[in-house]
Amino acid sequence: MARKKRKKDYSPQKKDASPFNPVVSSENKLKIDALRAEKHRGSICVVNYKGGVGKTTVSCLLGYYLAEKTQKKVLLFDIDPQCSLSLALGFDPEEVSKTELTIYNLVKPSKWAKIAKTNFDKYVTKVKDTVAPDNLFIVRGSFNVDELDMQIAQSLATGTKRHVDELFLYCKQLLNAYSEYDYVIVDCPPNKMFLTQAMLRACSYYLAVTIPDAISIYGMPRLLRWVKLVPPSDRPKLLGYVLNAINRTGGVGGGKVYSQQSAETRLKRNIQADLDKEEQRVLGSDPLIGVIPRLDVIARFLGEAGTKFSRYDFSKKTSGQPTVDECLSSLADVVLARIGGYRCA
Ligand SMILES: Nc1ncnc2c1ncn2[C@@H]1O[C@H](COP(=O)(O)OP(=O)(O)OP(=O)(O)O)[C@@H](O)[C@H]1O
Ligand SMILES: [Mg+2]
Repeated sequence: MARKKRKKDYSPQKKDASPFNPVVSSENKLKIDALRAEKHRGSICVVNYKGGVGKTTVSCLLGYYLAEKTQKKVLLFDIDPQCSLSLALGFDPEEVSKTELTIYNLVKPSKWAKIAKTNFDKYVTKVKDTVAPDNLFIVRGSFNVDELDMQIAQSLATGTKRHVDELFLYCKQLLNAYSEYDYVIVDCPPNKMFLTQAMLRACSYYLAVTIPDAISIYGMPRLLRWVKLVPPSDRPKLLGYVLNAINRTGGVGGGKVYSQQSAETRLKRNIQADLDKEEQRVLGSDPLIGVIPRLDVIARFLGEAGTKFSRYDFSKKTSGQPTVDECLSSLADVVLARIGGYRCA
């Protein structure tokens, strides 16, 4: 039987491929580039899976003060389906959803393969200068982020297990697409949704926020250990923790109430026990970044700033408490110093 002559294949793809020179699709090339790329240098994830402890408050005010202090461009990411950060800054999520320029439209799975074609700028909105400095920007939230996990879970069920890792790579590329912003602050929801996990892993740094009471601090060591599960090469570095909504006894010079003092001591001990060498070097003997008292002006700012025609006066002193200016200015200084500390490793 005459042997069938095999047709030679001169297609450029097969001809050039070798183990040392593999031919990769442009989509895969982008992913490989993302794997190799450095993370966004100023990306900070604000986390705690305990709800209502002040993550949004800190994201918002830290963004405000980093923008004011550094005069550099600061971008907020609202990845919480509750959209609290967007609401606090005066945006109506129902209205924003109609524009299709929300975080959901930016991170939904159908977008992942289109990264090279995405116009990232159009998802950014300037925060009104009656609310915050005019170098503060936001990628606004969407209630639809709730559906994202279901969409990813469905694709996991059909065997495409790579999706969670792909979301991380996509988030890393996404943050790098905003490199003209010196700082990006990601306000996370109180859960471990895929998007929370991916953003945490994609950020260079993270900070935890808690209220110093027994229930709120209970999960903090577990939170830090959860972050330690991220592969070391991708793991964000801890900037420390913020104690929020402190109640002080008495007026001027009043101290912290007893339950807060003991919670704080326990928290400090637990967190220190889990720090790695580099974190110990940068955070020194105390991982605390700063404290924020429970202040009426903060609650009012978050509830109504977007509807006002002038900025809140954060220098105003009330009932002997430190002012928002004093607390947040020092908090922003510590964040900047610690980022500086990690960078000069
Ligand atoms: N320091 C503070 N002083 C006064 N009110 C505060 C302070 N911090 C937070 N609050 C109020 O407590 C509520 C919860 O705060 P925030 O939304 O920042 O918590 P969160 O951790 O982001 O919540 P979630 O887990 O639901 O996202 C808000 O309504 C806010 O107005
Ligand atoms: Mg929140």
